Amino acid sequence: MQDPDILPQQARENSDPHEATNPMPWYMIVLTGLLLAFGISYIVLADIEQPANWGDGRAVAELSGPARGGAGKVDGGALFASLCVACHQANGQGLQGVFPPLAGSEWVVGRDSTVAAIVLHGITGSLTVKGTTYSGAMPAFKDQLSDEQLAAVLSHIRSQWGNGAAPVPVETVTRAREEHKLRTAPFAGDKELPAPGSPT
Ligand code: HEC
Repeated sequence: MQDPDILPQQARENSDPHEATNPMPWYMIVLTGLLLAFGISYIVLADIEQPANWGDGRAVAELSGPARGGAGKVDGGALFASLCVACHQANGQGLQGVFPPLAGSEWVVGRDSTVAAIVLHGITGSLTVKGTTYSGAMPAFKDQLSDEQLAAVLSHIRSQWGNGAAPVPVETVTRAREEHKLRTAPFAGDKELPAPGSPT
């Protein structure tokens, strides 16, 4: 009779291998040391001013964004996409009967001081655009956008969708802001706005 604790199947098995005190092979130690030395020296020697083309091709100046205070170039297209597209649509056509088109609008390509005043203070009441009368509410952007940003978004809408009007200088927006600074309500449509005038 066999020892009942050790079954024949178990008796056939080799014992589990174990590492005992075998040292790590020397070349693994050397390799680990080399990698560690490389990693540490890479971090120590790496310089944030390193040529950007070592990374993704963007310069430090681009990554840190436009300088505060308006020194950077403002992207009118991006402002349009975030602030105006919901109503006037990406193709500038607006929504029939609700939001007037900016494409081909006499207000957009007309006198720049008028379109600046519109976007500064907004409009309510009936407004005629390309022969159609709208009576919606255009929000005011005077508190939300700086003169530089307004000039950029206005220049954008005047250059898109076949609108071939000249860009709007920042000074025009500054002057329009000054001229209407006492205004607290939006313009009451056609009757309060100067006729858009001829393209400038
Ligand atoms: C909430 C919807 C809405 C947003 C957002 C909006 N608008 Fe308007 N906009 C209108 C409406 C409505 C009118 C017409 C107002 C009326 O009928 O009295 C209008 C009129 C205008 C007009 C004069 C009419 C024309 O079609 O040319 C201009 C120019 C204009 N918007 C530019 C802009 C710009 C630029 C922005 C973004 C900075 C903007 N709008 C954002 C709704 C909007």
